Amino acid sequence: MTNALPLHLLTPPQVVRLPVPHALRRALPLSHEAESALSALLAGGPVPHFDVTRISEVLSEASGHVVLRAPACWTDAQLRWVYVVILRQLGSLNDRYGQLFDVIDRGLDHTTSNAPISKTKAATGMHTDSSDARYNPDLVALLCVQPGSLGGQSLLANAADLLARLRRTHPELEPIARQAFPRDVVTPGLHDHRTAIAANTIPVFAEDEHGLVFRYMRFWTERAMAKLGLDVPAELTQLFDFIDADMAEHALRFNLQRGDMLIAHNRTMVHGREAFEDLPGAARRCLVRAWVDGFHDSRAQSLSLRA
Ligand SMILES: [Fe+2]
Repeated sequence: MTNALPLHLLTPPQVVRLPVPHALRRALPLSHEAESALSALLAGGPVPHFDVTRISEVLSEASGHVVLRAPACWTDAQLRWVYVVILRQLGSLNDRYGQLFDVIDRGLDHTTSNAPISKTKAATGMHTDSSDARYNPDLVALLCVQPGSLGGQSLLANAADLLARLRRTHPELEPIARQAFPRDVVTPGLHDHRTAIAANTIPVFAEDEHGLVFRYMRFWTERAMAKLGLDVPAELTQLFDFIDADMAEHALRFNLQRGDMLIAHNRTMVHGREAFEDLPGAARRCLVRAWVDGFHDSRAQSLSLRA
């Protein structure tokens, strides 16, 4: 008789890494042709087809994410081309911020302006993407073009595991996690529009026909409540404190290298990044974000408003 522990108790969670498929390496445009190939792709040109079954499976499994590693010696345009080809196999690219959005420090401060944290160098806190109740991307992806000088470590946590721990230790907080509260609206021109903010309500935990939907943006919820002149209920603060503490303990922490493509399921995975600093004269940190709609049976809407 053995006392073997289940495998998941012996093996701590790790980042799931897969190589860039060989078929895609063979289709890579030459460096001097990559810019025009990328432009054609983003303009709706034909997408080379290849098998993404394994990538889709990994994204749909409990791990909920994958990191593909492309050679760092490829040019920026080659990396972006491969990135778009892979994502287009998994769904369609959302165009709200442009199909590809460069996450770089633009010298902005999200605490004193309505700037998205993606335009700052601050720690983001753990969150899921999109503060718009009407739009929730299925997948969030980040291509690392430049990892930067200092900081910027990536974080990932699993919402289903978090919910299980909440039920085990603080079941009294689950009802408030399923109650919709307002989130701030960062659509230009609408950020002080109380009606728009009051209507933009989202629960932290919900279910739809595809299963769990976790949407967490503490900063934007608390700011929406402040703009509406509402007190944050004590139970909601307790819930946020539990979620933040749980993710601080259980989140995967890892560094992205040039050529790494992180793809995460935005309904079940929570992500974040530590604060970073670009040193004078050094290459600036640059991650290329994309939102993918239509992975499986997405109900995502195609909206032109920014969120
Ligand atoms: Fe994000």
